[in-house]
Amino acid sequence: MTKIISFANQKGGVGKSTICLQSAFYLVEAGHRVLVIDLDPQGNTSSRLAQDESGNEIEFSGTTTADLFRYGLGEIPVMSCPRGMDLIWTTKNDPVLSEIESLDLECALLPSENLKASRLLDCYDYVLIDCPPSLGRKLIAALVLSTHVLCPVQVSGFAVDGVEGLLNTIISVQSELNPQLENTGIVINNLNRNFQTHMEARQQLIDAVPDLIYATEIGVRGKLDEATNKGIPVWCIKTSSGRAAAKDVRAVIEELIEKVG
Ligand SMILES: Nc1ncnc2c1ncn2[C@@H]1O[C@H](COP(=O)(O)OP(=O)(O)OP(=O)(O)O)[C@@H](O)[C@H]1O
Ligand SMILES: [Mg+2]
Repeated sequence: MTKIISFANQKGGVGKSTICLQSAFYLVEAGHRVLVIDLDPQGNTSSRLAQDESGNEIEFSGTTTADLFRYGLGEIPVMSCPRGMDLIWTTKNDPVLSEIESLDLECALLPSENLKASRLLDCYDYVLIDCPPSLGRKLIAALVLSTHVLCPVQVSGFAVDGVEGLLNTIISVQSELNPQLENTGIVINNLNRNFQTHMEARQQLIDAVPDLIYATEIGVRGKLDEATNKGIPVWCIKTSSGRAAAKDVRAVIEELIEKVG
């Protein structure tokens, strides 16, 4: 059965796109058939995946994420990316995708209906959905469609404050729209173990929802930032700091794969 995994948190900059992108690289390298759906109108994941091995941009083709919100879409052609995954893409700052937030709540069901009608997802082992930083229609659309969700969280600033709202959103989707949705849990990202505030916020999270915290964590890893911005797997950076970043990321991805079965 196809595993459909959303990377979700309404907070911006917590690592949704980073973990989604690196998971896509990992799963393709492991020989799986992977589709990425970029539900974030910022289009960061699309632009990273639409690059050839030398970093040159390739032309976008196939269905856009905004198209998925049309009634009776029909066939859904996808874009093949140079690194081996397929993509349903969004342009940078796509106004159509942004405006979906002003439509009726029912519009959140359309991507799932269109994708099911086309049977496209049956062609993949994994579908990875990069969610936007909001608790709106697009996040609901992703969660309605998903079998699993992973929530990256940062323990700096006020980032932990939003976790309750996110978990409640997941619970309400599970009870009202998608009983099959499984929350794989919370990944602590960008953790600096030397910062007392980080370690306190981390402990607060563990105490609040012990069963939901991933055993693996990602530290502050400059090479992960570099790899993600270049659109390459972090394990392609063959320095000691690249290897340390890759070790963190791989551990999280392997824990995710184990959880989704
Ligand atoms: N562990 C990490 N160490 C260092 N930099 C990181 C780490 N995780 C993510 N980053 C960097 O932080 C920035 C934000 O990450 P990312 O884009 O993945 O977050 P996001 O949750 O998708 O944000 P948005 O909500 O805006 O889409 C990026 O520049 C990314 O490279
Ligand atoms: Mg993002």
